[in-house]
Amino acid sequence: MDRFVKNFIIASIVYLALSSILGIAMLHSPQLLSLKFVHSHLNMLGWVSMMIYGVGYHILPKFAGKLLKYPKIGELQFWIANISLIGMLLFYTLNVMSPAPSYALITTLAGAVHALSIVLFFYNMLSTLLPAAPPPQR
Ligand code: HEM
Ligand code: HEM
Repeated sequence: MDRFVKNFIIASIVYLALSSILGIAMLHSPQLLSLKFVHSHLNMLGWVSMMIYGVGYHILPKFAGKLLKYPKIGELQFWIANISLIGMLLFYTLNVMSPAPSYALITTLAGAVHALSIVLFFYNMLSTLLPAAPPPQR
């Protein structure tokens, strides 16, 4: 298993733990519902997407009888996705607690960088899966 595959899976489980703690805190204190975006995206971009990236990078090329075309892009995507997700959610939280245009701007920029990490996944997967498989060796 590639290191970034394992890292994606570990990170996704950490995000699930964090989002569950925040979810329970939101149930306990309704004023924390202002952080619903943080909870939902810890879950959707952290837990769900990162688990899919990890399992997808590992298993989808194997289903097609291929090797992942650009493992280095997979490693790069791990870092870009995680740094931008943490940045987006951190500055969103800061902006909720003490609103400032700079926090809002950094939140937006981090969201855009995160979208770039999604494009890297698409590119790597499609360049791996789309080309026709080589004919079997005799
Ligand atoms: C211990 C686990 C969890 C707790 C205690 C919890 C709690 C909550 C709470 C209190 C809300 C706000 C509901 C409201 O607007 O009144 C919420 C929203 C949400 N949760 Fe969770 N949650 C948990 C796990 C999850 C998981 C595993 C996922 C996804 C895989 C998830 C996805 C969402 C989403 C997408 C929203 C936003 C829904 C909306 O906008 O209506 N949650 N959760
Ligand atoms: C670069 C990636 C993404 C960005 C920047 C982003 C941004 C946003 C924003 C700004 C909202 C509105 C929040 C509000 O009403 O205050 C939102 C809502 C939502 N997004 Fe995303 N999103 C992204 C990816 C995703 C993905 C991949 C999923 C699902 C797999 C998702 C699921 C949701 C859900 C369920 C809501 C409604 C719950 C809520 O209000 O928090 N998002 N998103």
